[in-house]
Amino acid sequence: MKDVSQDQRYVGDLSRSAELRPDVCVKISGLTKEFHMGDRSIAAIDGLDLEVKDGEFLCIVGPSGCGKTTLIRTIAGLETQTSGTIWVKKPAGGRPLTAMVFQTDSIFPWMTVEDNVGYGLRMQGVKKSQRDAKVESLLKITGLEKFGKSYPHQLSGGMRQRVNVARAFAADPEILLMDEPFGLLDEQNRMILQRELMEIWRGSRKTTLFITHSVDEAILLGDRILVMTAHPGRVKEIIDIDIPRPRDLIALRGDQKFISLYKQVWELLSEEVLRSRTQGVLRQ
Ligand SMILES: Nc1ncnc2c1ncn2[C@@H]1O[C@H](COP(=O)(O)OP(=O)(O)O)[C@@H](O)[C@H]1O
Ligand SMILES: [Mg+2]
Repeated sequence: MKDVSQDQRYVGDLSRSAELRPDVCVKISGLTKEFHMGDRSIAAIDGLDLEVKDGEFLCIVGPSGCGKTTLIRTIAGLETQTSGTIWVKKPAGGRPLTAMVFQTDSIFPWMTVEDNVGYGLRMQGVKKSQRDAKVESLLKITGLEKFGKSYPHQLSGGMRQRVNVARAFAADPEILLMDEPFGLLDEQNRMILQRELMEIWRGSRKTTLFITHSVDEAILLGDRILVMTAHPGRVKEIIDIDIPRPRDLIALRGDQKFISLYKQVWELLSEEVLRSRTQGVLRQ
């Protein structure tokens, strides 16, 4: 069993670090994460190396239980790695390091939509006038401008997930971490939210790690796709998505480049899904 106490996570000015190039936002080296339950231990991640560039949209795919959620939780500092090192670029001006968007919305039920979206800014001590301007612009992009005074229980699931996305962008974190955020939405809502997400992201070019089950979605959104191995998670391959933006899923489906990327990603992923089926790892 390895020593869990060695926390090697550095948040700092990476541009001055000899370890890193200036265009890197996250660098992970030899990351291993074991969970201990009584005298049993599970290696969720085993020797993962990764560099995420500043402003990159990186999609992550891999079989259930391969360690995707654990990876982004460790980057966020919500888990401590067993060994390995994570360097994360320090945000300027008191901004938060990360914001997370999960599959189920995590907005506050007792706050109106606009208070939910402005929550992170309020916590950062941003003045009301500045906060209001930012909230208004995000509500507009996400089609929620008429619902600023509504409460979450008055909204549909798709609209609540929009509030979640708007809130994460409003907080202006250095890195946005999204864990299958559209996984529970119906197809129409998913396509609308994907489009809105791309519109906000293109305006901010925020470094984003986006976990998805959908190969379509990964190609539509990503600059690159990280395919993880079956449990325990490592990098199987990283694929560049060399398709100009803005991208449109309907048009892409007939595009030769899309079809061959889809095949490439799906072949890599299905090898790992088949491997994971023999391992009996059930957790999502
Ligand atoms: N808190 C925990 N305690 C024990 N085991 C965990 C915990 N979180 C995750 N695991 C295990 O780690 C592995 C990876 O889980 P996870 O990161 O949730 O995978 P994914 O998000 O790819 O489905 C799984 O085997 C899971 O059972
Ligand atoms: Mg998960």
